[in-house]
Amino acid sequence: MDYLRIQGPTKLQGTVVISGAKNAALPLITLALLAHNKVTMTNMPEVADIKTLLKLLQNLGASYNLENHTLTIDTSTVNHTMANYDIVKTMRASILVLGPLLARFGHCEVSLPGGCAIGQRPIDLHLKALEQMGAEITIHAGYVHAVAPEGLKGAHIVFDKITVTGTANIVMAAALAHGKTVIQNAAREPEVVQLCEILRDSGIDISGIGTSELVIIGTGGKTIDMIDFEVIPDRIEAGTYLCAAAITDSSITLENVRPDHLDAVTAKLEHMGCTFELGETTMTIHPAQKLKPVDIITQEYPAFPTDMQAQFMALAVRANGASTIEERLFENRFMHVSELQRLGAEIKLSGHTATVIGACELFGADVMATDLRASSALVLAGMAAEGTTNVHRIYHLDRGYENLEQKLRALGATIDRLKE
Ligand code: EPZ
Repeated sequence: MDYLRIQGPTKLQGTVVISGAKNAALPLITLALLAHNKVTMTNMPEVADIKTLLKLLQNLGASYNLENHTLTIDTSTVNHTMANYDIVKTMRASILVLGPLLARFGHCEVSLPGGCAIGQRPIDLHLKALEQMGAEITIHAGYVHAVAPEGLKGAHIVFDKITVTGTANIVMAAALAHGKTVIQNAAREPEVVQLCEILRDSGIDISGIGTSELVIIGTGGKTIDMIDFEVIPDRIEAGTYLCAAAITDSSITLENVRPDHLDAVTAKLEHMGCTFELGETTMTIHPAQKLKPVDIITQEYPAFPTDMQAQFMALAVRANGASTIEERLFENRFMHVSELQRLGAEIKLSGHTATVIGACELFGADVMATDLRASSALVLAGMAAEGTTNVHRIYHLDRGYENLEQKLRALGATIDRLKE
């Protein structure tokens, strides 16, 4: 296994190019299951989760080529519909094949994704919505068996909770369903918006894009002529680099970014004293004179994203005063607290709220990554800490950050990837 060795404290400077959004690319890749043509996707992030999903689709019979951030994929050769456990267990977003496979083939068997470090991650809302669309769903021996022999039919879905991949699954299922599907309480994340836009531009009648109410008129089982497109920039990777600048009192510029996807994050950094120069696709951040404490509540887009919670906790350690962070989406997304404490952070937990005392001196230590975003928080803290920090189990990081250590080294960080 690899680990990252970071020497701190460090300053950063220069420009970093943000990669395509993993969480936009994943559903857009499974969307190709609804297409009868070969599709080309550019600005594709070459991260582990993307490669895992492509392997899954290849196992189903699809063919693809991924090089220089360009993916061409052809699913016309897909000849079976079982997404088996050995792949799904490594990446729960594999559940995104459920809607498309069922819509296109009328049946599929998808391994239950199982939980992960940050929470139980149920898929009950996905399944209930598909049943409303006429699917017969049974769960047996760890697999979801779904059948819809006459195809799916449009339905009026009201999600009990806002679910990002749940919305994506039902949007894709509805695209090939018979009739109209209304989805209320739909997720509005930019990644869901791009999925809907690509469907619209591929000829699907879909309205309400970007709102919590989507209306989709299905093709009645006909596959789509999917357009080629560019994946949107990764707003969470971008937010992570903004925090890297803030925690090291540095000015850096981000390129290939959508500032409008980061309003909640930018607002919190401005509250803490950072300042910005924004362009169409660039962001320059300047550090605070003295970092002010901040209060954060994670909620669905456009509110503050849960995927930035760990990074802000690391940043709050350096603020002058106590910050509070309330995690409202996942029941166990504070695994990074004990690792940050190993670096000298003073953090108190009460239920789903963490109080970060702030103004703590951080000292390098060995720490362990537990999940994707927690890992990046440890790297940020390591760059601010005095001495050497070794971040272990960084396979978590490789799932969603492309060339993290190369990008940070190019900004001036002292960071190396070594073998245990
Ligand atoms: C997506 O996960 C993202 N993953 C997550 O990013 C992100 O943290 C999350 O949305 C929230 O923004 C991808 O897009 C691949 P949800 P998802 O369904 O879709 C509950 C990262 O770091 N829920 O929106 O799985 C659920 O337990 C990852 O890149 C149900 O109860 O999240 C949670 O409390 C981590 N039943 C809440 O809804 C369901 O059927 C939101 O979950 C589905 C969800």
